[in-house]
Amino acid sequence: MSEKQPIYRKDYTPTDFTFKAVKLQFDLYESATRVCSDIEVVRNPKGDAKQKALQLYGDEVTLESVSIDDRALTEDEFSVNDEGLLIHAAPDSFNLKVSTIINPAANTKLEGLYFTDNLFCTQCEPHGFRRMTFFLDRPDVLASHFTTTLTADKGQFPVLLANGNLIDQGDLDEERHFATWHDPHPKPSYLFALVAGDLLCHDDVFTTMSGRDVRLKIYVEPGQLEKTEHAMQCLKDSMRWDEKTYGREYDLDIFMIVAVRSFNMGAMENKGLNVFNSVYILADPESATDNDYEGIAKVVGHEYFHNWSGNRVTCRSWFELSLKEGFTVFRDQSFTGFVTDETTKRMKDVSALRSRQFPEDAGPMSHPIRPDSYIEMNNFYTATVYEKGAEVIRMQYNLLGADKFREGTDLYFSRYDGQAVTCDEFVGCMADVSGLDMTQFKLWYSQSGTPALTVTDTFDAAKKQYQLHITQNTAPTLNQAEKHALHIPVSTALFNAKGQIIADTEQVLNLTQAEQTFTFENVAEKPVPSLLRGFSAPVKCTYDYSDDDLIHLLKHETNGFNRWEASQQFSVRVVFNVMAQAAAGETLVLPKNYADTFLGVLASEKDDRMRATLLALPTEMYLYDLMKTIDVDNFHTAYRFVKKALAETMRGSLITTYKACTPTGAYQYAPADVSRRALRNTCLGYLSCLDDADSQALVSEQFNSSDNMTEGFAALCAMVHSDHPERDAAIQTFYDKWHDEALVLDKWFSVQVSADRDDALETVKTLMKHEKFNFKNPNTLRSVVGSFCMGNLAQFHDASGAGYAFLGDQLRRLNTANPLIAARLITPLTHWRRFDAKRSVLMKQQLVELSQLGNLSGDLFEVIEKSLA
Ligand code: TRP
Ligand code: ZN
Repeated sequence: MSEKQPIYRKDYTPTDFTFKAVKLQFDLYESATRVCSDIEVVRNPKGDAKQKALQLYGDEVTLESVSIDDRALTEDEFSVNDEGLLIHAAPDSFNLKVSTIINPAANTKLEGLYFTDNLFCTQCEPHGFRRMTFFLDRPDVLASHFTTTLTADKGQFPVLLANGNLIDQGDLDEERHFATWHDPHPKPSYLFALVAGDLLCHDDVFTTMSGRDVRLKIYVEPGQLEKTEHAMQCLKDSMRWDEKTYGREYDLDIFMIVAVRSFNMGAMENKGLNVFNSVYILADPESATDNDYEGIAKVVGHEYFHNWSGNRVTCRSWFELSLKEGFTVFRDQSFTGFVTDETTKRMKDVSALRSRQFPEDAGPMSHPIRPDSYIEMNNFYTATVYEKGAEVIRMQYNLLGADKFREGTDLYFSRYDGQAVTCDEFVGCMADVSGLDMTQFKLWYSQSGTPALTVTDTFDAAKKQYQLHITQNTAPTLNQAEKHALHIPVSTALFNAKGQIIADTEQVLNLTQAEQTFTFENVAEKPVPSLLRGFSAPVKCTYDYSDDDLIHLLKHETNGFNRWEASQQFSVRVVFNVMAQAAAGETLVLPKNYADTFLGVLASEKDDRMRATLLALPTEMYLYDLMKTIDVDNFHTAYRFVKKALAETMRGSLITTYKACTPTGAYQYAPADVSRRALRNTCLGYLSCLDDADSQALVSEQFNSSDNMTEGFAALCAMVHSDHPERDAAIQTFYDKWHDEALVLDKWFSVQVSADRDDALETVKTLMKHEKFNFKNPNTLRSVVGSFCMGNLAQFHDASGAGYAFLGDQLRRLNTANPLIAARLITPLTHWRRFDAKRSVLMKQQLVELSQLGNLSGDLFEVIEKSLA
């Protein structure tokens, strides 16, 4: 393998120079765009004044010319090296002009300036800016302001956008025109953006809390304007929410969003000009599901909230990414809970954390929310930095309480406005306003791995004393052998036999040592403890509950999250017991008390959304993570059996509930309707496992009569995932209706490759030859390759190894075409050590073969190297 060197957080040094005003000109042509920069360079007071050389970063850019104070540099005054452009001796303060040529049409990595679908757009975070011009492309170099001029063909690219306010525009000649934008806010280059295309705009106005009018603009391709209503509403809701909750007001007169079809991630918070993956903007009832609607609220909120948590206060280096991402995810989670339902939002977030972040933290890529080193920064936009990072912020919110936390964020925003800081500064503000000693708490930033709590108890009837003994242990991870005791807040309540909380037992137990005992007095009977209420810390927690204890909590817990948790833990236990039966060759049986519990939920729970979530089985990914060695075959046998056996036992109630959820009017995206549809689709999902005529009739009826994607697509899933007689016809009907809607086709691709059927891999290969399949579009790739390799575990892990070989082939292609996406899709192979001997050899073999690629990208290199270490 080629040797790529990591960079370390401990080696941070400020730059010797910094930038003041930056002027940029982009002459946009598809395959040869000229980029001219004109920069006021000065000494950085924090840098080394004796250092004469100035190293600018560059990546795949062709240098045309470089001048200092309008004198072109001669060849011995600069060199182009691995890092970029090195100016050998720079004065203390000067004007720098650099001209480069780049090829946006050939840019399949989608980082920097790229041209796809007749649109120019940029993605600069983290290191895309240096793919356009040589620059001090680091988050701690904040240029005081940017002025950007774009020139392009008038007919083909009528809309020209960049950050800030439009200050000039006009025609250059018959064919070309220009626009100049000025952003008055200091910003690092990763927040730069430009867009040029033939776009339509949804306009609106938001009046801020101080009475200023902000023009809101959502730009989309022609034909999509009707699908921007929801995103616009979410934007206005986000702006109001941030004013009310954090006192944050928007700071420019215009806020723009552009939806693009080809985008590596969800969206990007460029100052005043967010660029979005169109998945997170476009929606109407016919083509988007309730989940899509919720995703739009989350991402529109997330990017908007970055305007303060990220843009006004940014990161000193990329090691501090969680400073902006963890905090902003915490903010978008709270916002989404506010506009949907707080309790079910929490369940979804925890379920996602367990399915994605727990495995990551138990695997070779394990890293703290503030990593200590990286080879390729793109590999650290992870569930750990984002979702675990948000949990670490949430713990601080709970430790301080809402009011003190708000005081802390106010202090943070005012103290560090316009600066690039570290996670320490954030926690420092929380410590300052609360007076808490956060020294131990800060270990959450530096220690990786998921802590495991083991809880036991003792009850002394004579003394009326109940004690909880808690131990914490974090297993060594590849990156860190030694682990310390963390400060873990364990929110707890004790329940008596009547199902009431015993007086004074609703407490947060602050676990700070490896082992600790907590004593409760005046406890008359042995209670059932409810632990880690609301998921008060991102840990695994085990306590030896009896089935009856879990049933008791499911019935009586007042904390909705922990009711769900009780049902999840019951399911975990049942699936693993059935798996043991399968492994022993015994007849599989579903425990009666378990089926009865689920029936009880259907019968007695009033809230539809709660009913739907309580009935959901734990995800396969979460269950994989809980197994020491993953027994693929017996696990999936058990999982399928539990689902089907539950459906059989509950059949009558499922049908009754299903029918009670029949829509009474046209589709509305309103909380009660969303809940009803969620419950209806959950019932349908169970019923479709039965493959009987009655259930199949319900599925067909829903498929044919629904007026919205939420119900229509759920019915399609039910058919495609079963042996429904109309399966093939439905696939065709759906295609005929939606063949021109890229986002809906991605659903169509995804549902087919996710079906747990023996022909799944054949289906994948056939779909990759489909005329609508586009290897260059990350959404389509995720729908086909991602959904198969990460969403169809039973088939991907087929014992033949065919799934692994298929993924290996795709990664060889993607290695150069789009290394960022390649390094994400490879994830399932990195867990090779967790599987049985036969599978693990086959998985490892793919990694070894990939490691021998001559032109292996840094992205894949880093993941493969760590996986094989
Ligand atoms: N900062 C973006 C966010 O809101 C993340 C992001 C968008 C990104 N596009 C990217 C990160 C491309 C790396 C590469 O979370
Ligand atoms: Zn973000």
